[in-house]
Amino acid sequence: MKTRAAVLHGLNQDWDVVDIEVDDPKTGEVVVEWMAAGLCHSDEHMITGDMVPPEEAWEELGIESMWPMIGGHEGAGVIAAVGPGVSGVDVGDHVSASFVPSCGRCRYCSTGRQNLCDASGGTFRKGMITDETSRHRLDDGTDLNMLAKLGTFAHHTCVADSQVVKVEKDLPLEVVALVSCGVATGFGSATERGNVQAGDTVVVVGTGGIGMNAVQGAKVAGARHVIAIDPVEFKREKAMEFGATHAFASMEEAFAQVQEMTWGHMADKVIMTPGVLYGDMMQLGTGLAGKGGTIVVTGIAPITQTESSVNLFELAMWNKEIKGTIFGSLNPRADIPRLLGMYREGQLKLDELITKTYSLDDINEGYRAMREGENIRGVVLHG
Ligand SMILES: NC(=O)c1ccc[n+]([C@@H]2O[C@H](COP(=O)([O-])OP(=O)(O)OC[C@H]3O[C@@H](n4cnc5c(N)ncnc54)[C@H](O)[C@@H]3O)[C@@H](O)[C@H]2O)c1
Ligand SMILES: [Zn+2]
Ligand SMILES: [Zn+2]
Repeated sequence: MKTRAAVLHGLNQDWDVVDIEVDDPKTGEVVVEWMAAGLCHSDEHMITGDMVPPEEAWEELGIESMWPMIGGHEGAGVIAAVGPGVSGVDVGDHVSASFVPSCGRCRYCSTGRQNLCDASGGTFRKGMITDETSRHRLDDGTDLNMLAKLGTFAHHTCVADSQVVKVEKDLPLEVVALVSCGVATGFGSATERGNVQAGDTVVVVGTGGIGMNAVQGAKVAGARHVIAIDPVEFKREKAMEFGATHAFASMEEAFAQVQEMTWGHMADKVIMTPGVLYGDMMQLGTGLAGKGGTIVVTGIAPITQTESSVNLFELAMWNKEIKGTIFGSLNPRADIPRLLGMYREGQLKLDELITKTYSLDDINEGYRAMREGENIRGVVLHG
């Protein structure tokens, strides 16, 4: 079938909205008509190269080419076609995307760690995770890669059935889209990976689409102090509406205040969710955590960055821990419906995350607004 998609042809370019061809689904695949796609910062990392291995390393990594690539990994839509061997979803079902697949069989899925599923095909190679051949082409016949093997910046894509999670039909699909990445990742970074406990002092560094949900997670878990840090005033104001008890413009500014409000104990949990996590931010990040504190690394660092400023003496002597997380260490099949259930009961603010909606043709304007800090989340409505 013919459809339209926002495609990236290489680094430092705009999204190019073009007609593409999508094949019928093969075994274990479905075609999704995406209705809504969130403008997550991770797609922006493709443009800046933060998430792109340097070209000189491609051969060694077995990458022929990453481009052209359909963007988008935060999304929700309706199943338009089902390939052989697919069970659990049917044409017309509403689904959330899941940028981490869950095959249900690998050692990670079978031990409750679907976020680490072995079926993850990543973004670095063209081809489906099912059989490594392509289902999407430009008009000139060039095979298309897909971000996170989802490509939610297209009206339709063909994806593995391990990357869709069925959701209830009465839920707004733009809300489901946000849960598929930003909400789950932020919420889980605080509640699951950070294991926030009632009475904890929690610092969230960077309150955009991900961090705002770490704020919500910390609040739901009963944190005593939820300290939002963001250089953008609008984000700080919004963080207070989403459950923060304090907001500061920088980690430097927050330091003495956190000291004072905790009688010198500092934070129990620090969740790092800035747009780009540069290595030199970790010294202040780890410094904001007190003895026995946990620092959760959620924000993406430039892929080639190997240095980070952490005082290892303090890390050891003060018994701290630094933990990475993908998808907030949650399980998409259990936790996407769980978070949507909390939204239904009024326990999570999700409509309020959407600052502005865009047509697919206006996607570059949406990313400009993200760079300028104007949106908590921008959302493309495909309809
Ligand atoms: N680990 C995962 O599974 C996962 C999943 C999704 C996104 N991410 C990553 O999480 C990060 C955040 O994504 P997002 O969509 O929320 O981005 P965003 O652009 O919506 O928000 C980032 C926020 O960080 C703030 N910020 C920038 N520099 C800062 C600093 N020095 N101190 C404090 N705040 C700062 C910005 O003002 C902005 O509000 C990105 O790196 C993204 O790629 C990780
Ligand atoms: Zn994302
Ligand atoms: Zn698996």
